[in-house]
Amino acid sequence: DNEADLKERPPVVTIMGHVDHGKTTLLDAIRSTNVTSGEAGGITQHIGAYQVEINNKKITFLDTPGHEAFTLMRARGAQITDITIIVVAADDGVMPQTVEAISHAKAAGVPIIVAVNKIDKPDADPDRVKQELTEYELVPEEWGGDTIFVNVSAKQRMGLEELLEMILLVAEVNEFKANPNKRARGTVIEAELDKGRGPVARVLVQHGTLKVGDAFVAGNCFGRVRAMVNDKGRRLKEAGPSTPVEITGLTEVPQAGDPFMVFEDERKARSIAEKRAITQRQSELGSNTRVTLDDLFK
Ligand code: GTP
Ligand code: NA
Ligand code: MG
Repeated sequence: DNEADLKERPPVVTIMGHVDHGKTTLLDAIRSTNVTSGEAGGITQHIGAYQVEINNKKITFLDTPGHEAFTLMRARGAQITDITIIVVAADDGVMPQTVEAISHAKAAGVPIIVAVNKIDKPDADPDRVKQELTEYELVPEEWGGDTIFVNVSAKQRMGLEELLEMILLVAEVNEFKANPNKRARGTVIEAELDKGRGPVARVLVQHGTLKVGDAFVAGNCFGRVRAMVNDKGRRLKEAGPSTPVEITGLTEVPQAGDPFMVFEDERKARSIAEKRAITQRQSELGSNTRVTLDDLFK
């Protein structure tokens, strides 16, 4: 892409942290905060990710647990997160999975924002959390570092707006961009077989614009976008970079973390999907084995 073709896109954010430190509560609080202030009547539905809007800018949150998302995506070579929020409960402090989350984010080279949660609790000690995190090179600005810390209470919905503003600040500094004017590419976040609708995939569009009718490959599967809805349950005709969508029109169920790519027509998509299936089967059987089409259907 030429620099001139790149347009600003919403940051994609994951939330990680130790068990029970409040990841789910925080994700739910952020989502519902925005429903009341945002478009009326938007019935949110679970599509593995959602978008909120603040100061006329969007932020995409992956609502699959960060650890799982990171492990899955990285195992398949995909990187979909731009920013990681590490949640640390202020009454509990840094715990083993906090440290694990930090190393995931650092290995992926993703900027970290620390959300010190549960500050409503009487035994909350946010300064202790800051102190503990200096050991992992996460040093707050007031102590001479460059890590953003935000005190929040997911339960009482305190500090959420500041957290969202800090996400936008980090996004601005990092200048996350993509070219919306080309065929879509992205990653499958979740997929399943729906009784009524057949295979359904939740996809994060990362580059280009996905349109109803587009022929695509998702992992070893192919299809043509029959219908597309966003996280508010609204039908879309097209979806640009950083937009999570749920699509139907697949022939099979792909896997979370699978790459997603649009091709010029269904014939091309089908042949790419078949080649990918052969390659995968070949690596499963070992490189000395020649794979026939029959092997693919075993
Ligand atoms: P796992 O997914 O099991 O790792 O947990 P989690 O990190 O998603 O934590 P979850 O959101 O389930 O919260 C764990 C418990 O902490 C629940 O009982 C929440 O109600 C409580 N909790 C979460 N945030 C806050 C908060 O800000 N203040 C208080 N007092 N409790 C909170
Ligand atoms: Na929990
Ligand atoms: Mg949870």
